[in-house]
Amino acid sequence: MASTEDDERLVDLLQQARNDELETVINYQTNALALSGVEAQEIVDSLSTDVQEELDHAEEIGERIGVLGGKPRGSYDIEMSQESLQPPAEATDVLTVVEGVIEAEGDAVSTYEALVDAAEEADDPVTEDLATELLADEQEHLAEFEGFREGLLDE
Ligand SMILES: [Fe+2]
Ligand SMILES: [Fe+2]
Repeated sequence: MASTEDDERLVDLLQQARNDELETVINYQTNALALSGVEAQEIVDSLSTDVQEELDHAEEIGERIGVLGGKPRGSYDIEMSQESLQPPAEATDVLTVVEGVIEAEGDAVSTYEALVDAAEEADDPVTEDLATELLADEQEHLAEFEGFREGLLDE
């Protein structure tokens, strides 16, 4: 059984994770709208699919925050910091977007690895299961965009 202190630590990590999921939703949608050209279509489709997945992640995390005694944050308390995911100057600059996504997904993988460990230490198997499920999704996103990068660099 987790202590109150453990719950508070997990809630802090969950808040940070949800913060990043919500910023990712904004930036993936923005980049999907920003890109154009034949080369961009596959990336745009993938970003659009991921927008829904990241939004679902934010919701699942928000539910868990509530169960652990926290309150999901509104926009005044969300911090925006994804510099590498700002839309590119050129609408055909697919590689810059793909590299931004790889950075964001790498950060998400690190976040969920830390959450898996923290939940295990706190003896909270439900949060650990959630973090493991989210970690698997982010690893898939990361692998997909690493594949896109290889394809772009091979051309
Ligand atoms: Fe996510
Ligand atoms: Fe992701």
